Parts: sequence; structure tokens; C-alpha cells
Amino acid sequence: MENFVFQNKTKIIFGRDTEGQIGEETAKYAKKVLLHYGGGSIKKSGLYDRITESLKKAGVEIVELAGAQPNPRLSLVKVGIELCRKNGITFILAAGGGSAIDSAKAIAAGVPYSGDVWDFYTGKAAPEKALDVATVLTIPAAGSESSPSSVITNENGGFKRGLTNDLLRPVFSILNPELTFTLPAYQTACGAADIMAHIMERYFTTTKCADFTDRLCEATMKAVIHNVPICLKEPKNYDARAEVMWAGCVAHNDLLGTGRNQDWSSHGIEHEISGIYDVAHGAGLAAVFPAWMKHVYKSNINRFVQFAARVWNVEIDFHNQEKTALAGIAALENFFVSIGMPVRLNDMNIKDDRLEEMADKCSGNGSHTIGGFVSLDRNAILNILKLAV
Ligand code: NZQ
Ligand code: ZN
Repeated sequence: MENFVFQNKTKIIFGRDTEGQIGEETAKYAKKVLLHYGGGSIKKSGLYDRITESLKKAGVEIVELAGAQPNPRLSLVKVGIELCRKNGITFILAAGGGSAIDSAKAIAAGVPYSGDVWDFYTGKAAPEKALDVATVLTIPAAGSESSPSSVITNENGGFKRGLTNDLLRPVFSILNPELTFTLPAYQTACGAADIMAHIMERYFTTTKCADFTDRLCEATMKAVIHNVPICLKEPKNYDARAEVMWAGCVAHNDLLGTGRNQDWSSHGIEHEISGIYDVAHGAGLAAVFPAWMKHVYKSNINRFVQFAARVWNVEIDFHNQEKTALAGIAALENFFVSIGMPVRLNDMNIKDDRLEEMADKCSGNGSHTIGGFVSLDRNAILNILKLAV
């Protein structure tokens, strides 16, 4: 196991009706907030009314910014920064999924910064201060409700880039599984694919002796694999929704990655896809992750055999480990198909005409490699994209 520091400041308030606590919790930090949300699902579900009522009851004044889109855009972040500055806002409440939350985090980092907030996403600068952010989560997926990351798309060039900084972890997040009852099946499945990916990015490691976190990862994957089909069949099954919501948060709150090196190349490659084609991040991952596995499995067959046996209950063929490894990869693909995910880019109408462009962007025109489990250069990235088509 490698040395590590684990610190996650986000207070998780989990369970039925917990959004009723939003006013009281927020008032501990501010008397005026920016309420930031997406395209309107929170209005349809009635959540918007409950949040605003609770805030008003606690004497918290609300300034609103709607319209965070899936793959949230830099232009709206800039609108939010100006709105906060103009209104003297120091606290942002995001209601929705990863997109509204990531957009809120970008605004939070941008308000105290005199330069262009995009500098943080290109690595040109690092935030030294940020406004406080809190969330009411409506979709288990990105894990942004307690992660230190924000992923934003710059419309100018279709660059989707991430910023990771502990300042961006929400101060509190409200997770009520009932709020996920209204999720369309496709979004439930996209969320599941993203959660699985967050675990697998950590699971595929070169660190020796990481048994405890291996088993935490396996347990979390098994809980997702078991409960997501129940959520799809019975969208209002509280217990199954609750399992997935908590698993999704733990999958990306950094606990599962403690003491081990991690990979993250499938995420890097997927961000190029959703940056250009504006597909759901989870759907892109469902196509990229199996392709990545097919490209790298030979570099550490034992790890893929363990994945097949422990996560998918594949019987180990000791005479043919490769067969076992491939059966594990096939089981993952079959799971994605069974929940309605595309497992080829083609299924999302993405053809092979811009693969080179994506490989260039992902590798900085061949100037750097990605991936901690296996280091991938531009040609390897291109090969994975070809396998995913
Ligand atoms: O915009 P609204 O109207 O709210 O609709 C959303 C959106 O269309 C809808 N939705 C959410 N909750 C709902 C609902 N519809 C009905 N009922 C509900 N309860 O679902 C759609 C998707 O929402 P979005 O916020 O985009 O989903 P997700 O949470 O998957 O976030 C995706 C974004 O997060 C980034 C992704 O790249 C992508 O941009 N990620 C962020 C990470 C982080 N900050 O740590 C890590 C991840 O790896 C990921 O990259
Ligand atoms: Zn993800």
C-alpha cells in the first residue's frame, strides 16, 4: 500500500425528505445564495419549490441561475461569476447532477480570481480561494457531490477539461434517494456506467498489496450491478435507489483510491468524445472502458482474472487465464448492454472520422501520455478509440 492522506470535508445528509434541511444548513454559511440548476427537471419534480421554501423560511435570499447543460459550458460559468460578483454572493447551492454541480464549482473558483477561469482548466493557474458550494443531488453518477473536481466544456474548440482542487469539495450535500425516482431509464443507466467507471479507474492499479481497497471496490461494484437493474424495473424502489446513490458517492469520494495508484485514461479519452459530440459521459464510458480493457489486459492478466472472478463470478480457468480475463471484460459489456447502454461509439452515431483529432487532443498532440495502469501514447489512444467504434 502506498502512503496517502485522506480528507473529505463534505458533510453528507442522506435519506428521505432531507431536502427540507436545506434552509437550516445553508443559513449556517450565508444569508444570500446563488441557486444554480439545470434544464428544469427540478421544477417538474417539485424539488425547486421545496428548496426555495426551505431557504426562505430560514431567511436566506435567493439569486437564481438556471440552464446548466449536460457537459456544462464555460459561457454559463462566466455568466454565473458576474452574477455572484454583482450580488455579493459567497455561497452557491447546486441542485441537480454533475453538470449543475460542476458548473457551480467553476463559478465558485472563478469569482475570487482576477484572470480567466478557464486558466484553472488548462493548468495555467490553480485556485487559491473559492466560494463555498453545497449540493442537492438528483442523479447518482458523477460523484461531484463530494469530489474535489469540476469538468467544464469550452465551446470554443470543444475542449472538455477538468479541475481538481480540495477547495471545490462541497461543504455539504443532500442525498435523498426519492429525488432520483423521476430519472429516465437512460440517465439511470448512464449514471451507473459512470459509477462503475469511477471504481474501475481505481481498481486497475499497479500497486501491490492493496487488498482492503480492492475489496471495497469489488463490493461497491457488486452493489451497483445488483441494484441498478432493480432501479430500472422499479424506478420508485427506495432501497435500490438508496444503494446506488450511496455507492455512487463513495465510488468517487476518494476512499476507494486510498493507498493505490490509479488509471483514469478511459475518463481522459471519454472527455474528448463528449467534448465534441455532446453525448452523456456515462454512455461514452460504456463504449470506451471495454475497449481500454481489450487494449491493456495482457499487461496484467492476473488483475483481470481477479476482476472476472470476484466481480462477475467467472470461474477461473487456470490453464487459460486469458480466457478468464476476456470473460470478465465480456461480462462488463453484457452488463452495460443489459441496462441499455451503448457499448460502441457507432451506437451513438459517432463514426471513425474524428478519431485522430481526439487522440491528438487527448495526448496534447503526442506530447504526453495518459494512464497510471498502463501508460498510453497517442497511438495507443487512437487504437482504443478504434476498438470503441
Ligand atoms: O438539467 P436537468 O433538467 O436537471 O436534467 C438532467 C440532465 O438532462 C437530468 N436529471 C438529473 N436528475 C434528474 C434528471 N431528470 C429527471 N429526474 C432527475 N432526478 O439528467 C440529465 C443529466 O444530468 P447531468 O447533471 O448532466 O448528469 P451527471 O450527474 O451524469 O453529470 C455529468 C457531468 O459530470 C461530469 C461529466 O463529465 C459530465 O459533464 N463529471 C464530473 C465529475 C466530477 N465533478 O467529479 C467526475 C465524472 O467523471 C464526470 O466527468
Ligand atoms: Zn466519470
